[in-house]
Amino acid sequence: MTPDAPPLLEVRNLSIRVANARSNLVDDVSFSLQPGRTLCIVGESGCGKSQTALALMGLLASPPLSVTGGTALFNGRDLLSLPQAEKQRIRGDRMAMIFQEPMSSLNPVLRIGEQIAEAVRRHRGVSNSVARARALEMLEKVRIPAAGKRLDEFPHQLSGGMRQRAMIAMALANDPELLLADEPTTALDVTIQAQILDLMRTLQAELGTAMILITHDLGVVAEMADEVAVMYAGRIVEIGATQDIFDDPQHPYTIGLMSSMPALGRRSERLVTIPGRVPSATDMPDGCRFASRCPFRIGICARTPELSNPGGSHRVACWRAPIEETYLQPQEAQPA
Ligand SMILES: Nc1ncnc2c1ncn2[C@@H]1O[C@H](COP(=O)(O)OP(=O)(O)O)[C@@H](O)[C@H]1O
Ligand SMILES: [Mg+2]
Repeated sequence: MTPDAPPLLEVRNLSIRVANARSNLVDDVSFSLQPGRTLCIVGESGCGKSQTALALMGLLASPPLSVTGGTALFNGRDLLSLPQAEKQRIRGDRMAMIFQEPMSSLNPVLRIGEQIAEAVRRHRGVSNSVARARALEMLEKVRIPAAGKRLDEFPHQLSGGMRQRAMIAMALANDPELLLADEPTTALDVTIQAQILDLMRTLQAELGTAMILITHDLGVVAEMADEVAVMYAGRIVEIGATQDIFDDPQHPYTIGLMSSMPALGRRSERLVTIPGRVPSATDMPDGCRFASRCPFRIGICARTPELSNPGGSHRVACWRAPIEETYLQPQEAQPA
């Protein structure tokens, strides 16, 4: 894929607001995604990752949430302004979403095979037997053992990991161009998590699906992402190719996230946690939203920093970036 190929998805200035809040909970978010690529959106809980994905799917809880600005061109058409019927046609067909909790997608009273077949019938208008054959094919693709038998089981008869596989099978049944995956492995134990990530990578390579993978886990990012968008309090604070972000993190928040990951921190012998917490959606501070937690805060941080390097591939929204070379030096200077 050449970098110049037209993007599959181009999100520009997406903003989302809770009714009556004085500022956006997702604010001016822009990114693009090429066909077949993976963008990870990473950040602590409450940073607006899920709402960003839900807005793209047309699934925001509205009211109280609403899109207050922006566009999201998917194959050249703006997802945010499509008529409802058109949205429903694209959803589950050209784009699909999977969640942390498979039971938010799976219907507990329908057999696994029926639900996947129903998703196929709804969008493809094929016969029952063709849809059922597709369901079986998908369960085999996600490597559910004894797939033929599982077709006739209910979700509660499957283990957590198998349910996650079934949800992936359903999401991919219509061969979408874009998969939105919101913390798909967060609830699973480490071994199962690794298996599911491996499965997702394999299927993605086979099917050529582009993916937006939402996670709070930089380990998952390192495994999966081509590009990374670091999100803090509703804004992208740093975005770039995965290698660049890991080799040369420039935003204090990105550096803080990395330093708090023992396996990844470049100075893992000195673990840092970022003090403080993400501001609430109804009470966002003016200026840089990270300032109150930032050890490098200065006067100008009362103004909102724009992403640097317009048009470049590695961009950062910080008045003081790049900051990495000086990080932790104040601590070293202090007497023991
Ligand atoms: N229905 C809602 N009403 C009000 N605020 C909401 C609603 N849903 C989410 N929020 C707020 O939106 C913010 C971002 O949430 P979310 O996108 O779920 O974060 P993340 O996925 O990064 O953990 C949170 O502060 C959350 O409280
Ligand atoms: Mg979330």
